[in-house]
Amino acid sequence: MNRLWSLSDRRTAAKVSNLVRWLQSRPLSSLLVACIAVSFYVVGLLHGRTSKAHISIATLYTSSGSEVCPPCDIPEGLKALIPALPSKYEDLLKSTATRWLTPWDKYDFESASISTKMVDNLWDYMLDRGHSHSSFRVRVINGSLIWPPTLMQAALQANIYYMPRVHHWHNLFEALEAAHGLPDYLDMVISIQDRPKLFRAPFHMDKAPLFVYTTTSDFAEIPLPTTEYYGKIKQLLPSELEDAQRWDGRTAKAIWRGSPTGGEYTKENFWRYPRTHLVNHTRANSDILDAKFLPCAPGQCSEQTFQAMKEAGLPTDTKQFSFGEFTSYKYLIDIDGNAWSSRYAHVLACGAVFFKANSPYTEYFYDFLTPYKDYIPIAEDASDLPEKLRYAVAHDEEMRLVHQRVLEKYAKLIGNGNWLKYVHYLLSEYSSLLERPAMMLTKDVMRFTGSS
Ligand SMILES: *[C@@H]1O[C@H](CO)[C@@H](O)[C@H](O)[C@H]1NC(C)=O
Ligand SMILES: *[C@@H]1O[C@H](CO)[C@@H](O)[C@H](O)[C@H]1NC(C)=O
Repeated sequence: MNRLWSLSDRRTAAKVSNLVRWLQSRPLSSLLVACIAVSFYVVGLLHGRTSKAHISIATLYTSSGSEVCPPCDIPEGLKALIPALPSKYEDLLKSTATRWLTPWDKYDFESASISTKMVDNLWDYMLDRGHSHSSFRVRVINGSLIWPPTLMQAALQANIYYMPRVHHWHNLFEALEAAHGLPDYLDMVISIQDRPKLFRAPFHMDKAPLFVYTTTSDFAEIPLPTTEYYGKIKQLLPSELEDAQRWDGRTAKAIWRGSPTGGEYTKENFWRYPRTHLVNHTRANSDILDAKFLPCAPGQCSEQTFQAMKEAGLPTDTKQFSFGEFTSYKYLIDIDGNAWSSRYAHVLACGAVFFKANSPYTEYFYDFLTPYKDYIPIAEDASDLPEKLRYAVAHDEEMRLVHQRVLEKYAKLIGNGNWLKYVHYLLSEYSSLLERPAMMLTKDVMRFTGSS
C-alpha cells in the first residue's frame, strides 16, 4: 500500500488534512487561506518553480472540491486524505490514532519524526531491563511482514504464558493485512505484558513509542487492540442483536461475576481489594445488585482464603454469565482485576448500562465514552455503587438513552471490524512518522519528493 507515496508527502498531507478540518469550522479563515494559497501558487508560477506539492496543497486548501489550479495532478494517495466529509465516527477513529502519536510528531516536514535510532533505543531499553521474552520487535518492509523467526521459540522457552500472546499478535498483522493491507513500512516494538513499562518522562522522547495492550497517564505507551481480546468480539446473530437492542423487559439489576484477582488475596488482606467491596455490596442491596465471586484464579488466592471469604459473608457463584444472560439485565459492572478490564470492550455489545469503576488504565476507545452519557462512573472501590444504582433504577428513561448511545458507539467504534480499522489508522500514522531505511528509498518512492 502507498508504495509510491513518499514520506514527506504523506506527512505534509496529514498536516494539511488536520488544517482542512480546522478550516472547515472557520469559513472566513478558509477563504483567507485559499486566497493566500492561490497567491503563492501564482507567485510560484511566475517564478517557474511550482512543484506538484504546491499544486496539491493549494487544491486542498479550497476544501470545496472546486479546483483552482489546473492541472491538478494530485497523487492518488494524497487524494485519499482529502476529507470527503467523513462520518463523525470515522473521523474520531482517525483523530484518536493521530492524537496518541502527537508527542512523537515533530511537525517537521524535512525529517522523519521517529528515526530508526529511536526504535533501536527503545529495543535496547527493553532488552536491558530484561523484557526480552515479553517484548518483540517486528518489521514490515515493502508491505511484507518480517516476523522474527526465533520469536515463537524464545517465547516458549521463557514462559508458556506468553506463547499464545505472540500468536495473537501475529494474527493481528494477518487480520490487518487481509482487511486493510499493511503499511509499506513498519519497525515497532511490542510489549506483551499486562502492564505498561515505559514511564512518561522527557528522556523517553529519544525512544520510539512502545505498543501495548493498555496504558495509564504515567506511561508513554500506545494501546493497540489485538486479536487476543478484540478477537472475542462476536459478530452478533440477528437474534442476539435484537436482544442487545431491547431495553424493556430486562431485569432492573446490576450483575457481576469474577474471580478474586488484582493481587494475591490472603485471609488477612482480602478486604483490601476493590472487588471484595463490590461483592460485599450485594449483601445489603440484593434487590438491585447481584455481584458474586467466582472461584480463585491460580496463584491469586488459595482454597483456604476463598473459604475464609465465604465465611466472612461474601456471596459466591460457580459460573460466568452467558451473552444471553448479560442481555437480560439492564446494568452491568466493570471493575479492574489484574491491570485493565479486558472484558469491557466486548461486553459493551450487550447494550446494558455500565457502572464502570474508576481505573488508571485506558484502551483506545475509552476516550470515546462520555461519563454519565455512555456509562456511569463509580469509585474505584465501588463505594458509591448502591447510591448510583438506585438513582438509575428510579430514572429508567435516562438509562434507556445511555443504553441506546452505548450500542451506537459500540457498533461504530469497536464492533463490526471497527477496532481493526482503528489499528489500520494507528499503524498507518505511525508508519508515516518513521524514517525509511535506505533500501526502501528507490527511484519510485522518491518521485514525489522532488529530490530525484
Ligand atoms: C523494496 O522494494 C524496492 C522496490 O521494488 C526494492 O528495490 C527493494 O530491494 C525492496 N526491499 C526489500 C527489503 O525487499
Ligand atoms: C459488608 O457488608 C455488610 C452487610 O451489608 C456490612 O455490614 C459490612 O460493613 C460490610 N463490610 C465492609 C468491610 O464494608
